Amino acid sequence: MHNEHNDEAFLARINNGEHIEPRDYMPEAYRRHLIRQIAQHAHSEVVGMQPEGNWITRAPSLRAKQILLAKIQDEGGHGLYLYSAAETLGASRAELIDLLHQGKAKYSNIFNYPALNWADIGAIGWLVDGAAIVNQVSLQRTSYGPYSRAMVRICKEESFHQRQGYEIMTTMMRGTREQRHMAQDAMNRWWWPALMMFGPHDSDSPHSGDAVKWKIKRESNDTLRQKFIDKTIPQAELIGLTVPDKEIKLDEKTGHYHIGKIDWEEFYRVIGGHGPCNKKRLEHHVHYHNSGAWIREAAEAHKKKKNQKQLTTV
Ligand code: 3HC
Repeated sequence: MHNEHNDEAFLARINNGEHIEPRDYMPEAYRRHLIRQIAQHAHSEVVGMQPEGNWITRAPSLRAKQILLAKIQDEGGHGLYLYSAAETLGASRAELIDLLHQGKAKYSNIFNYPALNWADIGAIGWLVDGAAIVNQVSLQRTSYGPYSRAMVRICKEESFHQRQGYEIMTTMMRGTREQRHMAQDAMNRWWWPALMMFGPHDSDSPHSGDAVKWKIKRESNDTLRQKFIDKTIPQAELIGLTVPDKEIKLDEKTGHYHIGKIDWEEFYRVIGGHGPCNKKRLEHHVHYHNSGAWIREAAEAHKKKKNQKQLTTV
């Protein structure tokens, strides 16, 4: 255990590529930065279950329903890994959720858009989980041990999520004219918000300086966004989808795609609480969190009774 209260020694460990563990010394600012990011990551996983949950009873086949159920269950589990990682930093899950309910903690912009039809479920799996994978593969190398290990577990499941979304889009693009139109319409609505998932440009990112210094982020917002763009555009073209950006151009020399301007006004409007579904997502979360209070109380009572029993039988 490295518990000498010494910022220099801490930074030397970070620069040495070591994992910082819960009982190691860490500057308060590092701890707070991680609680903010990990909590928002956890909130995103759980709130992200809502748009897809609406389509379980309307899935077009039993197979599609089974796959969607498995995916949503995974997302819930990812949220639990991440809340547990935040708790190793001394954060209380109840307080983190309370901050979310008060609008004082964020979740990913992307979950404030409606899933209008089955093609949206394809676009969410392919684009949203595809973007999340690019971000989370990089986060596997984050400096905080519990967060890094949570990412390794989560990434194992995310690739299935992205593939099932791409399969839906591929199937629809091989379908009727109406299905092809639905898939293209979903692409048009989800493409730009998916690019915004990576956060503002590096030059406009207030947290990236510290995040890179402390190796919480191993690659910048723009680097990861570009990785996602370069990977996804050929996938779209392969199945006949058009990327809704007239300025797209492949730079043969660098192998990167140049894209048009992202609408950051929309991004800040949505993360500021004024997206199409922000109110609905939060009301839903508050309602079901409160109606599930009895389960938490029962679990607490059971744990207390079990501990008392252990004490009396010692
Ligand atoms: N949605 C909402 N808020 C965002 C955002 C986004 N996509 N991107 C940035 N922001 C917010 C930041 O939280 C910060 O606000 P705050 O100070 O109130 O927290 C502000 O915008 C400035 O952004 P920065 O780039 O400076 O902030 P970060 O350094 O935290 O970088 C991030 C943002 C890249 C999202 C980083 O926090 C991160 O990598 N988080 C972990 C990954 C994550 O949260 N992914 C969410 C998707 S999970 C998911 O998709 C589930 C999947 O299974 C479907």
